[in-house]
Amino acid sequence: MGENKRLRFPFDVEEIEPEEKMEIKRLFNYPKIDLVRVGPKGYVMSRPYIEHAENIYNLPIRPTDVYVASFQRAGTTWTQELVWLLANDFDYETALSVPITHRYPFLEVFMLFAEWKNDCLKNIDKVESIEKKEKLLKMLEVNAQPVTEKLAAMPSPRFIKTHLPMSFLPPNIVDTAKVIYIARDARDIAISNYHHARLFKIFDFAGEFKDFWELFINDRYIQTPYFEHVKEAWNMRHHPNMLFLFYEELKKDLPAVVRRVASFLGKEVTEKQMTRLCDHLSFDNFKKNKAVNYEDMREFDVISPNETFIRKGKANGWRDYFDEDMTRQAERWIADNLRGTDLRFPHMTS
Ligand code: A3P
Repeated sequence: MGENKRLRFPFDVEEIEPEEKMEIKRLFNYPKIDLVRVGPKGYVMSRPYIEHAENIYNLPIRPTDVYVASFQRAGTTWTQELVWLLANDFDYETALSVPITHRYPFLEVFMLFAEWKNDCLKNIDKVESIEKKEKLLKMLEVNAQPVTEKLAAMPSPRFIKTHLPMSFLPPNIVDTAKVIYIARDARDIAISNYHHARLFKIFDFAGEFKDFWELFINDRYIQTPYFEHVKEAWNMRHHPNMLFLFYEELKKDLPAVVRRVASFLGKEVTEKQMTRLCDHLSFDNFKKNKAVNYEDMREFDVISPNETFIRKGKANGWRDYFDEDMTRQAERWIADNLRGTDLRFPHMTS
């Protein structure tokens, strides 16, 4: 295969049946995200992704790139900050002043903001000041523009966030660059995504958690099926350029994870550096940290007043949401998905 040969995106796109689409849209106050299923696993994606899927699949990977990959709400932002500070000699000044969204282009975020962007542009003349208008346009540029061109112009090393399954990324990614994947208990993922879908007005989820849970386990929510996403990365975990983490490990022993990530990146950490880093990464400090908590999005009216991006930060928070039936259903669903695999979540084995 010649180095510059463009690869065909190898997956087919399947339309979701109109009745199923209607049923999904019924649960959203902003029901404009147009969903399709992609590939043999039927990953649910937003239609604008399709147009750029091949560009992303052919993204030129640099050996110095660092990718933080996950299913949405697995602790991506937490991992991104940990990785970035280790890789950038603990540059807290930049970490605290430059939003994480600017330090880490988010490969496919445009697919979520496409419709919202169109609505914003229709109403742009109603924005009261030139300053606010400019800020809004900048925000739209970060969130609604495909980032492949921007990435080409970025100096190395680049730090890149993605929620795409590994099979949608360039096939040479782990042979060339470093990838850190984070997974989390599916039940906590579902709860956190439920709140996230209420936080962002690009979804504006209107149902109860139970409605969301049904969407999630029946593979009707964006990025699902969850376990297929995790398994793809899990199966690559022995590759020397792949580091596979669990949210629950960060919760249980953050310094131990910092040491693993540091060793993966070829970095040393002194005791003093460790103390400061873990303090910076603590939930309470993260919640207050404007460079990572997405509070800057509030002024664009894309964030609901009743929710926050850095929310509860708990492992096993699902116990407060699940009744007995849901608990049993979840156990069956998890067991079905783990059967025949060696994927085990660390907190489930004890
Ligand atoms: P909850 O909604 O359960 O609180 P992502 O960055 O992938 O979107 O993940 C967000 C989830 O990680 C949220 O989970 C958020 O609160 C949690 N999180 C973010 N920073 C954290 C931290 N420093 N400590 C613990 N959890 C954190």
